[in-house]
Amino acid sequence: MLLELARSKHILFFGGKGGVGKTTVSAATALAMAMEGKRVLLVSTDPAHNLGHLFNRDIGPRPVRLASNLDGMELDPEQTVNEHLNEVSGSLRKLMAPHLAGEVDKHIELSRDAPGMQEAAIMERIAEVVEQAAREYDMLVFDTAPSGHTARLIALPEMMSAWTDGLIKRRDKAERFSSVLRNMGSDKSIGNKVLGGQEDPLAERESAIRSLLNRRKRRFSDLRTALSDAQRTSFIIVLAAERLPVLETIELHDQLRRTGVKVGGLIVNKRLPDGLGEFLTERRVQEEVHLATLKQALPDLPRQDLTLVAHDVVGLEALERFARSLA
Ligand SMILES: Nc1ncnc2c1ncn2[C@@H]1O[C@H](COP(=O)(O)OP(=O)(O)OP(=O)(O)O)[C@@H](O)[C@H]1O
Ligand SMILES: [Mg+2]
Repeated sequence: MLLELARSKHILFFGGKGGVGKTTVSAATALAMAMEGKRVLLVSTDPAHNLGHLFNRDIGPRPVRLASNLDGMELDPEQTVNEHLNEVSGSLRKLMAPHLAGEVDKHIELSRDAPGMQEAAIMERIAEVVEQAAREYDMLVFDTAPSGHTARLIALPEMMSAWTDGLIKRRDKAERFSSVLRNMGSDKSIGNKVLGGQEDPLAERESAIRSLLNRRKRRFSDLRTALSDAQRTSFIIVLAAERLPVLETIELHDQLRRTGVKVGGLIVNKRLPDGLGEFLTERRVQEEVHLATLKQALPDLPRQDLTLVAHDVVGLEALERFARSLA
Protein backbone atom coordinates (compact mmCIF):
# COMPACT_ATOMS: atom_id res chain seq x y z
CA MET A 1 0.00 0.00 0.00
CA LEU A 2 2.61 2.53 1.14
CA LEU A 3 4.93 2.40 -1.86
CA GLU A 4 2.03 2.26 -4.28
CA LEU A 5 0.59 5.39 -2.69
CA ALA A 6 4.01 7.06 -2.61
CA ARG A 7 4.56 6.39 -6.32
CA SER A 8 1.44 8.33 -7.23
CA LYS A 9 2.11 11.46 -5.10
CA HIS A 10 4.39 14.48 -5.12
CA ILE A 11 4.11 15.34 -1.45
CA LEU A 12 3.82 12.95 1.47
CA PHE A 13 3.33 13.94 5.09
CA PHE A 14 3.93 11.41 7.87
CA GLY A 15 2.30 12.18 11.20
CA GLY A 16 1.35 10.37 14.38
CA LYS A 17 2.02 10.03 18.05
CA GLY A 18 5.50 10.25 19.54
CA GLY A 19 7.80 7.30 19.06
CA VAL A 20 5.56 5.24 16.77
CA GLY A 21 8.06 5.28 13.93
CA LYS A 22 7.30 8.36 11.81
CA THR A 23 10.95 9.15 11.19
CA THR A 24 11.81 5.52 10.44
CA VAL A 25 8.87 4.95 8.09
CA SER A 26 9.11 8.31 6.30
CA ALA A 27 12.85 7.91 5.75
CA ALA A 28 12.40 4.33 4.51
CA THR A 29 9.69 5.46 2.09
CA ALA A 30 11.81 8.35 0.82
CA LEU A 31 14.75 6.00 0.29
CA ALA A 32 12.60 3.43 -1.51
CA MET A 33 11.36 6.14 -3.90
CA ALA A 34 14.92 7.41 -4.44
CA MET A 35 16.00 3.86 -5.26
CA GLU A 36 13.28 3.77 -7.90
CA GLY A 37 14.92 6.79 -9.54
CA LYS A 38 12.88 9.70 -8.24
CA ARG A 39 14.69 12.77 -6.92
CA VAL A 40 13.45 12.94 -3.35
CA LEU A 41 13.79 15.55 -0.60
CA LEU A 42 13.17 14.30 2.94
CA VAL A 43 12.28 17.13 5.34
CA SER A 44 12.00 16.92 9.11
CA THR A 45 9.68 19.53 10.63
CA ASP A 46 10.09 18.11 14.13
CA PRO A 47 11.97 20.41 16.52
CA ALA A 48 13.40 17.23 18.12
CA HIS A 49 14.97 16.17 14.79
CA ASN A 50 15.80 12.53 14.82
CA LEU A 51 16.53 12.34 11.12
CA GLY A 52 20.18 12.99 11.96
CA HIS A 53 20.11 10.19 14.54
CA LEU A 54 18.58 7.81 12.07
CA PHE A 55 21.18 8.52 9.38
CA ASN A 56 23.89 8.85 12.00
CA ARG A 57 25.17 12.17 10.74
CA ASP A 58 24.58 15.89 10.99
CA ILE A 59 21.77 17.16 8.80
CA GLY A 60 21.20 20.90 8.83
CA PRO A 61 18.53 23.32 7.67
CA ARG A 62 19.85 23.14 4.08
CA PRO A 63 19.47 19.99 1.93
CA VAL A 64 22.34 17.50 2.19
CA ARG A 65 22.88 14.38 0.12
CA LEU A 66 21.91 11.24 2.06
CA ALA A 67 21.92 8.67 -0.72
CA SER A 68 21.77 8.59 -4.48
CA ASN A 69 18.70 10.68 -5.45
CA LEU A 70 17.91 11.39 -1.80
CA ASP A 71 18.52 14.70 -0.02
CA GLY A 72 17.50 15.51 3.53
CA MET A 73 17.07 18.62 5.65
CA GLU A 74 15.89 19.55 9.12
CA LEU A 75 13.94 22.77 9.53
CA ASP A 76 15.65 24.59 12.36
CA PRO A 77 12.93 26.06 14.62
CA GLU A 78 15.14 28.63 16.28
CA GLN A 79 16.72 29.91 13.10
CA THR A 80 13.29 29.85 11.48
CA VAL A 81 11.76 31.89 14.31
CA ASN A 82 14.64 34.38 14.08
CA GLU A 83 14.26 34.83 10.33
CA HIS A 84 10.51 35.08 10.70
CA LEU A 85 10.76 37.69 13.47
CA ASN A 86 13.32 39.70 11.53
CA GLU A 87 10.95 39.86 8.61
CA VAL A 88 7.98 40.71 10.81
CA SER A 89 9.97 43.34 12.68
CA GLY A 90 11.10 44.83 9.36
CA SER A 91 7.53 45.15 8.17
CA LEU A 92 6.31 46.48 11.53
CA ARG A 93 9.00 49.16 11.44
CA LYS A 94 7.70 50.15 8.02
CA LEU A 95 4.18 50.36 9.40
CA MET A 96 5.06 52.40 12.47
CA ALA A 97 6.46 55.86 12.80
CA PRO A 98 10.26 55.80 13.22
CA HIS A 99 10.22 56.95 16.86
CA LEU A 100 8.28 53.76 17.75
CA ALA A 101 11.12 51.44 16.68
CA GLY A 102 11.93 50.72 20.33
CA GLU A 103 8.35 49.59 20.92
CA VAL A 104 8.56 47.30 17.90
CA ASP A 105 11.71 45.69 19.29
CA LYS A 106 10.07 45.14 22.67
CA HIS A 107 7.04 43.57 21.03
CA ILE A 108 9.24 41.27 18.90
CA GLU A 109 11.24 40.13 21.92
CA LEU A 110 8.01 39.26 23.74
CA SER A 111 6.75 37.37 20.68
CA ARG A 112 9.83 35.16 20.52
CA ASP A 113 8.47 32.78 23.17
CA ALA A 114 4.79 33.27 22.42
CA PRO A 115 2.68 30.12 21.98
CA GLY A 116 2.36 29.18 18.32
CA MET A 117 5.37 31.21 17.22
CA GLN A 118 7.46 28.14 16.33
CA GLU A 119 4.55 26.58 14.49
CA ALA A 120 3.89 29.73 12.48
CA ALA A 121 7.55 30.06 11.58
CA ILE A 122 7.86 26.38 10.64
CA MET A 123 4.70 26.57 8.54
CA GLU A 124 6.19 29.45 6.63
CA ARG A 125 9.35 27.39 5.99
CA ILE A 126 7.25 24.42 4.82
CA ALA A 127 5.47 26.75 2.43
CA GLU A 128 8.84 27.97 1.14
CA VAL A 129 10.18 24.45 0.73
CA VAL A 130 7.07 23.37 -1.20
CA GLU A 131 7.40 26.49 -3.38
CA GLN A 132 11.12 26.15 -4.08
CA ALA A 133 11.77 22.41 -4.01
CA ALA A 134 9.03 21.63 -6.52
CA ARG A 135 11.46 22.57 -9.29
CA GLU A 136 14.42 20.47 -8.11
CA TYR A 137 12.73 17.35 -6.76
CA ASP A 138 10.14 14.91 -8.03
CA MET A 139 8.92 14.25 -4.54
CA LEU A 140 8.86 15.80 -1.05
CA VAL A 141 8.54 13.65 2.06
CA PHE A 142 7.78 15.42 5.36
CA ASP A 143 8.52 13.77 8.68
CA THR A 144 6.42 15.75 11.16
CA ALA A 145 6.29 16.13 14.93
CA PRO A 146 3.81 14.19 17.13
CA SER A 147 0.08 14.49 16.30
CA GLY A 148 -1.41 17.51 18.05
CA HIS A 149 1.35 19.67 16.74
CA THR A 150 0.93 18.41 13.18
CA ALA A 151 -2.81 19.01 13.04
CA ARG A 152 -2.34 22.56 14.30
CA LEU A 153 0.38 23.06 11.74
CA ILE A 154 -1.84 21.83 8.94
CA ALA A 155 -4.68 24.14 10.03
CA LEU A 156 -2.33 27.09 10.12
CA PRO A 157 -2.24 28.12 6.44
CA GLU A 158 -5.91 28.92 6.71
CA MET A 159 -5.42 30.94 9.86
CA MET A 160 -2.38 32.72 8.47
CA SER A 161 -4.22 33.48 5.26
CA ALA A 162 -7.16 34.94 7.17
CA TRP A 163 -4.79 36.99 9.27
CA THR A 164 -2.98 38.34 6.22
CA ASP A 165 -6.30 39.06 4.50
CA GLY A 166 -7.39 41.09 7.52
CA LEU A 167 -4.19 43.10 7.41
CA ILE A 168 -4.53 43.75 3.70
CA LYS A 169 -8.10 44.94 4.18
CA ARG A 170 -6.96 47.26 6.93
CA ARG A 171 -4.20 48.57 4.69
CA ASP A 172 -6.78 49.16 1.96
CA LYS A 173 -8.89 51.27 4.31
CA ALA A 174 -5.85 53.16 5.54
CA GLU A 175 -4.77 53.75 1.96
CA ARG A 176 -8.17 55.05 0.95
CA PHE A 177 -8.09 57.34 3.95
CA SER A 178 -4.65 58.68 3.10
CA SER A 179 -5.63 59.21 -0.50
CA VAL A 180 -8.68 61.19 0.62
CA LEU A 181 -6.40 63.27 2.78
CA ARG A 182 -3.95 63.68 -0.05
CA ASN A 183 -6.71 64.80 -2.43
CA MET A 184 -8.04 67.21 0.13
CA GLY A 185 -4.54 68.51 0.45
CA SER A 186 -4.05 68.97 -3.24
CA ASP A 187 -5.49 72.51 -3.01
CA LYS A 188 -4.27 73.66 0.33
CA SER A 189 -1.90 70.89 1.38
CA ILE A 190 -4.07 69.81 4.32
CA GLY A 191 -3.26 66.18 3.62
CA ASN A 192 0.41 66.80 3.35
CA LYS A 193 0.37 68.58 6.64
CA VAL A 194 -1.44 65.69 8.33
CA LEU A 195 0.90 63.19 6.75
CA GLY A 196 3.96 65.14 7.72
CA GLY A 197 4.53 66.39 4.20
CA GLN A 198 6.09 63.06 3.13
CA GLU A 199 3.85 61.97 0.35
CA ASP A 200 6.31 59.89 -1.61
CA PRO A 201 8.04 57.94 1.18
CA LEU A 202 4.58 57.16 2.52
CA ALA A 203 3.41 55.80 -0.81
CA GLU A 204 6.56 53.71 -1.03
CA ARG A 205 6.00 52.36 2.46
CA GLU A 206 2.43 51.46 1.55
CA SER A 207 3.45 49.54 -1.51
CA ALA A 208 6.33 47.72 0.24
CA ILE A 209 3.96 46.53 2.96
CA ARG A 210 1.32 45.58 0.43
CA SER A 211 3.72 43.48 -1.62
CA LEU A 212 5.07 41.77 1.49
CA LEU A 213 1.57 40.89 2.68
CA ASN A 214 0.57 39.72 -0.75
CA ARG A 215 3.62 37.50 -1.10
CA ARG A 216 2.85 35.91 2.28
CA LYS A 217 -0.76 35.44 1.39
CA ARG A 218 0.12 33.81 -1.93
CA ARG A 219 2.62 31.51 -0.22
CA PHE A 220 0.07 30.31 2.33
CA SER A 221 -2.72 29.89 -0.15
CA ASP A 222 -0.40 27.89 -2.46
CA LEU A 223 0.44 25.65 0.48
CA ARG A 224 -3.25 25.30 1.32
CA THR A 225 -3.95 24.28 -2.27
CA ALA A 226 -1.07 21.79 -2.25
CA LEU A 227 -2.17 20.26 1.05
CA SER A 228 -5.77 19.78 0.06
CA ASP A 229 -4.98 18.46 -3.42
CA ALA A 230 -5.48 14.73 -2.86
CA GLN A 231 -4.11 13.93 -6.33
CA ARG A 232 -0.77 15.43 -5.44
CA THR A 233 -0.51 15.19 -1.67
CA SER A 234 -1.16 12.51 0.87
CA PHE A 235 -1.05 12.43 4.64
CA ILE A 236 -0.07 9.14 6.23
CA ILE A 237 -0.67 8.40 9.91
CA VAL A 238 1.81 6.09 11.61
CA LEU A 239 0.70 4.35 14.78
CA ALA A 240 1.33 1.43 17.07
CA ALA A 241 -1.28 -1.26 17.67
CA GLU A 242 -2.04 0.12 21.11
CA ARG A 243 -5.07 1.79 22.62
CA LEU A 244 -3.99 5.45 22.84
CA PRO A 245 -2.25 5.62 19.46
CA VAL A 246 -5.39 4.15 17.87
CA LEU A 247 -7.66 6.70 19.61
CA GLU A 248 -5.31 9.53 18.70
CA THR A 249 -5.18 8.35 15.10
CA ILE A 250 -8.97 8.52 14.88
CA GLU A 251 -8.90 12.01 16.35
CA LEU A 252 -6.07 13.18 14.09
CA HIS A 253 -7.89 11.82 11.06
CA ASP A 254 -10.96 13.84 12.08
CA GLN A 255 -8.99 17.01 12.59
CA LEU A 256 -7.28 16.64 9.23
CA ARG A 257 -10.54 15.97 7.43
CA ARG A 258 -12.04 19.09 8.97
CA THR A 259 -9.18 21.15 7.56
CA GLY A 260 -9.60 19.58 4.13
CA VAL A 261 -6.57 17.28 4.21
CA LYS A 262 -7.19 13.72 3.07
CA VAL A 263 -5.45 10.90 4.92
CA GLY A 264 -4.04 8.51 2.33
CA GLY A 265 -3.30 5.58 4.59
CA LEU A 266 -2.40 4.19 7.97
CA ILE A 267 0.82 2.45 8.88
CA VAL A 268 0.60 0.25 11.96
CA ASN A 269 4.17 -0.12 13.04
CA LYS A 270 5.87 -2.41 15.60
CA ARG A 271 3.34 -5.21 15.30
CA LEU A 272 4.46 -8.37 17.04
CA PRO A 273 4.96 -11.16 14.55
CA ASP A 274 3.43 -14.64 14.62
CA GLY A 275 5.27 -17.60 16.14
CA LEU A 276 6.67 -15.77 19.12
CA GLY A 277 8.68 -18.53 20.84
CA GLU A 278 12.16 -18.03 19.47
CA PHE A 279 11.42 -14.44 18.47
CA LEU A 280 10.67 -13.40 22.04
CA THR A 281 13.95 -14.82 23.28
CA GLU A 282 15.84 -12.93 20.61
CA ARG A 283 13.92 -9.77 21.34
CA ARG A 284 14.79 -10.13 25.02
CA VAL A 285 18.48 -10.43 24.17
CA GLN A 286 18.15 -7.32 22.02
CA GLU A 287 16.54 -5.49 24.94
CA GLU A 288 19.44 -6.46 27.20
CA VAL A 289 21.87 -4.95 24.68
CA HIS A 290 20.03 -1.60 24.79
CA LEU A 291 19.73 -1.75 28.57
CA ALA A 292 23.45 -2.38 28.95
CA THR A 293 24.07 0.88 27.05
CA LEU A 294 21.61 2.62 29.35
CA LYS A 295 23.30 1.22 32.43
CA GLN A 296 26.67 2.32 31.17
CA ALA A 297 25.49 5.86 30.49
CA LEU A 298 23.40 6.28 33.65
CA PRO A 299 24.90 3.86 36.18
CA ASP A 300 23.57 5.58 39.29
CA LEU A 301 19.93 6.03 38.37
CA PRO A 302 17.44 3.57 39.87
CA ARG A 303 15.58 1.48 37.30
CA GLN A 304 12.49 -0.70 37.37
CA ASP A 305 11.30 -2.90 34.55
CA LEU A 306 7.63 -3.47 33.80
CA THR A 307 6.54 -6.47 31.82
CA LEU A 308 4.54 -6.12 28.60
CA VAL A 309 1.07 -7.33 29.50
CA ALA A 310 -1.25 -9.42 27.34
CA HIS A 311 -4.22 -7.03 27.52
CA ASP A 312 -4.66 -3.27 27.34
CA VAL A 313 -4.78 -1.56 30.68
CA VAL A 314 -8.33 -0.19 30.54
CA GLY A 315 -10.68 0.36 33.43
CA LEU A 316 -10.18 0.53 37.16
CA GLU A 317 -9.82 -3.20 37.72
CA ALA A 318 -7.07 -3.59 35.16
CA LEU A 319 -5.39 -0.48 36.48
CA GLU A 320 -5.41 -1.87 40.01
CA ARG A 321 -3.85 -5.10 38.77
CA PHE A 322 -1.19 -3.10 36.97
CA ALA A 323 -0.63 -0.93 40.02
CA ARG A 324 -0.07 -4.03 42.16
CA SER A 325 2.57 -5.19 39.73
CA LEU A 326 4.50 -1.99 40.41
CA ALA A 327 5.34 -3.19 43.95
N1 LIG B 1 9.15 -1.67 12.91
C1 LIG B 1 10.02 -1.37 13.91
N2 LIG B 1 10.58 -2.36 14.59
C2 LIG B 1 11.44 -2.11 15.59
N3 LIG B 1 11.81 -0.88 15.96
C3 LIG B 1 11.27 0.17 15.30
C4 LIG B 1 10.35 -0.03 14.25
N4 LIG B 1 9.99 1.19 13.79
C5 LIG B 1 10.65 2.10 14.54
N5 LIG B 1 11.42 1.49 15.43
C6 LIG B 1 12.26 2.12 16.45
O1 LIG B 1 11.42 2.88 17.30
C7 LIG B 1 12.07 4.08 17.73
C8 LIG B 1 11.20 5.26 17.39
O2 LIG B 1 11.09 5.35 15.99
P1 LIG B 1 11.05 6.76 15.25
O3 LIG B 1 12.12 7.64 15.72
O4 LIG B 1 10.96 6.46 13.81
O5 LIG B 1 9.65 7.28 15.80
P2 LIG B 1 9.02 8.73 15.64
O6 LIG B 1 7.56 8.52 15.51
O7 LIG B 1 9.70 9.48 14.59
O8 LIG B 1 9.36 9.35 17.05
P3 LIG B 1 9.22 10.92 17.46
O9 LIG B 1 7.76 11.13 17.69
O10 LIG B 1 10.01 11.00 18.72
O11 LIG B 1 9.75 11.70 16.34
C9 LIG B 1 13.42 4.09 17.03
O12 LIG B 1 14.38 3.64 17.92
C10 LIG B 1 13.22 3.12 15.88
O13 LIG B 1 14.40 2.49 15.52
MG1 LIG C 1 10.63 11.41 14.62
